[in-house]
Order: sequence, then structure tokens, then C-alpha cells
Amino acid sequence: MKALIRTDFNFPGQQSVYHGKVRDVYNINDELLVMVATDRISAFDVVLPEGIPYKGQTLNQIAAKFLDATADICPNWKLASPDPMATVGLRCEGFPVEMIVRAYLCGSAWRTYKSGARKLCGLPLPEGMRENQRFPEPIITPTTKAAQGSHDEDISREEILSRGLVSEADYAVLEKYALELFRRGSDIAAQKGLILVDTKYEFGRRGGEIYLIDEIHTPDSSRYFYAGDYETCFRKGEPQKQLSKEFVREWLMENGFQGKTGQQVPEMTPAVVERISERYIELFEQITGETFIKDDTGSLLSRIEQHIIHYLSKKSIP
Ligand SMILES: Nc1ncnc2c1ncn2[C@@H]1O[C@H](COP(=O)(O)OP(=O)(O)O)[C@@H](O)[C@H]1O
Ligand SMILES: [Mg+2]
Repeated sequence: MKALIRTDFNFPGQQSVYHGKVRDVYNINDELLVMVATDRISAFDVVLPEGIPYKGQTLNQIAAKFLDATADICPNWKLASPDPMATVGLRCEGFPVEMIVRAYLCGSAWRTYKSGARKLCGLPLPEGMRENQRFPEPIITPTTKAAQGSHDEDISREEILSRGLVSEADYAVLEKYALELFRRGSDIAAQKGLILVDTKYEFGRRGGEIYLIDEIHTPDSSRYFYAGDYETCFRKGEPQKQLSKEFVREWLMENGFQGKTGQQVPEMTPAVVERISERYIELFEQITGETFIKDDTGSLLSRIEQHIIHYLSKKSIP
């Protein structure tokens, strides 16, 4: 088992490369993006010191599937996934906000609620809610898309508009798309015995059109519960079994790390790394209903490079 921590390719037509927290993003002729999902893992906006074998493959393959399964709702950036760890698609001008849709009160929203706040991103919340309780309707709690190295922050619809981050007309489209995508994601999850609890979407502009960009419905961008256990756990006030990165965040918090400056990331032993890897594979299998095929990790770099060069060379032929 080997994890892919970083790539440094030089593709034909490459203008620049951006090493995100998790993905390596190559700009090809300002037209296309090659996005390699590495095995890096981030939590609380910090990249953790160890990579997680197969994580990149599970993320890329789940995102590719859901982009295909939602293409009738709104245009998306994906053109092809020439390698299990990479997707190539259209480069868009990203909106500086992340559209987070929540159907249940949990994660950071619960932490905010528990501290006494009854407003989330400008939306009033009812008194007396409990952790993991379902909202009457899914809500949108946007965040800013912060510059590299800083934290995304909650923001209200009003502030997005008054600061001119997104125009009112565009924002209405983002809201509509986000809610429709979430409904589709929830339906697909329900067919697999899962609840799509919350998720994050990013959108961008290209020409006159708004595109869905980035990954969707992956364990990094979403939280899933097991539908069959939900009611019982909720009634007893027990934690839900989570198929998401929340268990990584919980493990970090139990060990004194919440991403605050000065805090130390706890040691990630091989056993911890393996457990996280297994959880990502488990989610892949649950959400897709397919057996995860572990690709050979021996020559990851050259395999990815060859697949992408081959795809790009075919593409440039008219
Ligand atoms: N089609 C696209 N056009 C432009 N930018 C995109 C597109 N799809 C994804 N991105 C951007 O690529 C980056 C993906 O890498 P990621 O590891 O998530 O980085 P980050 O640390 O910025 O979240 C994100 O910044 C995302 O906004
Ligand atoms: Mg990201």
C-alpha cells in the first residue's frame, strides 16, 4: 500500500499548477483543467502529515459518478476521467463562495448551535433542536472560499450580495442548482440505504454559463449516515455511524487537535492510516454499490501521467 502525496507533472500546454489541500490542479492552455486527486487528507483546513492509500481513487471515482448522474440538472465541468485518480474538464472562473446544503443539524452547524447561537448564515434556527436532528427543509449555509492558508467562514446570503461576491441573479441560480443537486444526491443515497446529511458545492462561470465545478458528493465534501440506524441512534441520543470525514475530525478532536494555531496534529500511526483508508473504501462501496478495485499503487505517477497525456493528445486532434 502506497499513498500518492504529490504530483509534479509537466503536460503539453501546461500553463500552471495549483497544489490544493487535496487535489493537484493543472491548467492546460487556460482551457482545460487536469485534476489529480492525491491521497492527501485535510481536516479543519489543515493537510495532515500522512497520506491515505486509495483515498484519491475513491474520491475521484465517486465525484466522476455523481457528476455524470447530475448532468441533466446543470452543466458541469467534467469531460472525462482518463485515470482512476484524475479527471479532465473545463476550466471555469470559480465563484468565491461555497454552497453548503444541510438537511440535518450536525458537524460545525451543531457546534455553533450548541454554543448558543440561533442563527446560521443569517438563517434563524428553532429552539430545542438536538444534534443530528432533521431540518424541516434542507437549508443553504454558504461560506466564503478563503484564500490559500486561511479558513472558510460562514456568510449570509445578504452579505454575499451586499459585498458583491455574487450577483443577485447568479446567486438565485446557484441556490436553485444546489438544492436540486442535493435532492438528486439524497435520492441516490437513499437507494443505497444512506442519508445524504450535508454537502458542499462549488460553481464557476464559463462564457455566459454557470457550471458546477470541483468534486461532488464525496466523503470529503459530504456527510452520510446509515438510513437504517438513523432513527434508533437519534432517539437514544447516540452518535450516528458516519460515512464521512467527520470520523477523522472526531479522532483529531479526541486527541486535542481542532486546527487552531499552536495545536499539534496527533501521531498518525500505520494503524490509524489503515483504518481511515478502509473507511474511504467502505464509503465508496456503499455509495456506488460496487466493489472497490484497488488499482496497482506501485507505479502511480507514471500510470497517471501516461493516461492523461494520452487523453490530451487525442483531444487536441480536431
Ligand atoms: N472546473 C474548475 N475550474 C476552476 N477551478 C476549479 C474547477 N474545479 C475545481 N476547481 C478548484 O480546484 C481546486 C481543487 O483542489 P482542492 O484540493 O479542493 O483545493 P482547495 O485547497 O483550494 O480546496 C479548488 O480550489 C476548486 O475550487
Ligand atoms: Mg477543496
